[in-house]
Amino acid sequence: MRQDLRQRLLSSNQGGILPHWDKLSPHEQSSVERQLEAIDLEYLANLFAKRTIPFALPDIEKITAVPVLHSTTNFTEAKKEGINALAKGEVAILMVAGGQGSRLGTLQPKGTWPITPITQKSLFQLHSEKVLTLSKKANRDIPFLIMTSPATHDQTVTFFTSHAFFGLKKEQVIFFTQGTMPAVDLNTGAILFEEPAKVFASPDGHGGTLTALKKAGLLEQLKSQGIKHLFFFQVDNPLVQIADPIFIGHHISHRSQLSSKVILKDSPTDKLGNFIQVNGRCQIIEYSDLPLELANRKKHDGSLFIDTGNPAIHLFDIDFLNLVCSNCDALPFHLARKKVSHVDANLNKVVPEKENAWKFERFIFDIFPLAERWLLVSTKREEEFAPLKNAQGDDSPETAKLAQCKLFIQWLEKAGVKTPAYSTTPEIEICPSFAMDAAELSQKLPNNFQVKFPLLLQDNPKEF
Ligand code: UTP
Repeated sequence: MRQDLRQRLLSSNQGGILPHWDKLSPHEQSSVERQLEAIDLEYLANLFAKRTIPFALPDIEKITAVPVLHSTTNFTEAKKEGINALAKGEVAILMVAGGQGSRLGTLQPKGTWPITPITQKSLFQLHSEKVLTLSKKANRDIPFLIMTSPATHDQTVTFFTSHAFFGLKKEQVIFFTQGTMPAVDLNTGAILFEEPAKVFASPDGHGGTLTALKKAGLLEQLKSQGIKHLFFFQVDNPLVQIADPIFIGHHISHRSQLSSKVILKDSPTDKLGNFIQVNGRCQIIEYSDLPLELANRKKHDGSLFIDTGNPAIHLFDIDFLNLVCSNCDALPFHLARKKVSHVDANLNKVVPEKENAWKFERFIFDIFPLAERWLLVSTKREEEFAPLKNAQGDDSPETAKLAQCKLFIQWLEKAGVKTPAYSTTPEIEICPSFAMDAAELSQKLPNNFQVKFPLLLQDNPKEF
């Protein structure tokens, strides 16, 4: 091993790789050297050293509840403004899809998961159809940025390519890849190896979006195309109303640099990020960082003091992103204990039964306090948030399917359509090309429309 690298490994407490060094072939050795060179060893050692220090929270006395705009406020004007911005080409869409889906336990990117209740379209197809429908309405190809990670990139690109981009133009879909961070041993901080010659590297969190956008030169590219606002969402939420014009309209009319949709928390310990306000700025405390005492705090009327949850649906001004990106490498890393299979110094495979490693992730919302002008707009969980996280139980394929069926039935009811009585939620699917919301559905359905479950409503279905 090169002497300077050996020295740096030893001085940052990473000598652990050295015992297995001699067991590697010359080709493997140079590959490992390259991987280790790319890691800021000192920075990593520093993160590990601070692992037991809880994430810095603001002074509790300074925390106030956040103001939330009801989405129906000035509804018509907001919608008009949003539609106008889409038609003028001022909006791009960004989906983050770099996560490893480890809780779901899939070997494919989560976006390939069949999610719709009847046609079993994948998350990637469902989101793409929404972007396609919006593009048709706006009469322009809305840029669709997809952030992948080394763990998901190739399979994601292959999936889109082999399905003809689900009807989108190839040039409209822009893939870019986020960075990684090594995982380290829970007790010693030693870098873990996935294979003898491969460092275990995991995506650096959705906060990695900023560095990745900057590296790929995408912010300048979008700006030069006249894009002013970037709509952000996560691949694992089938209910998300992509680039909702009302949300865009509110964002524009409030001259907001950063807007977020928010939902009411179900319970003090609901597994959602928590919106708070400190010194007039907006901030999110991740549920795992929220002290129980603060989570349980009540207002005079008995409701939760911190009751505003984050479904991860945001709208950023490109100028704001450009501003914060000049220093995005300064975003903090959050540490999480995870189970990481790896090889030990004797090159034996270790499959841990309990958490054995630290992973490091940046969170996109750590830029929120940098916004001087921000806006939170209410939405309802049942209308816009049903994340796919786990293989079973909460936030699973089953709950995501149920949430879609319930929402579509709600649309039918809002559209004034009578539904036959049922004891368990029936199967129903309304494709984005048919209707994107209850109002559109009501325009589309004939007066005498008879519902028969299972019900599939779609326009000119295409095979991809
Ligand atoms: P999560 O952390 O909730 O889910 O990410 P995950 O990473 O897909 O699955 P687990 O945690 O391994 O079980 C929420 C969203 O953020 C994206 C994910 O793709 C998902 O859309 N994400 C997460 C990234 O794009 N990059 C990351 O590094 C982490």
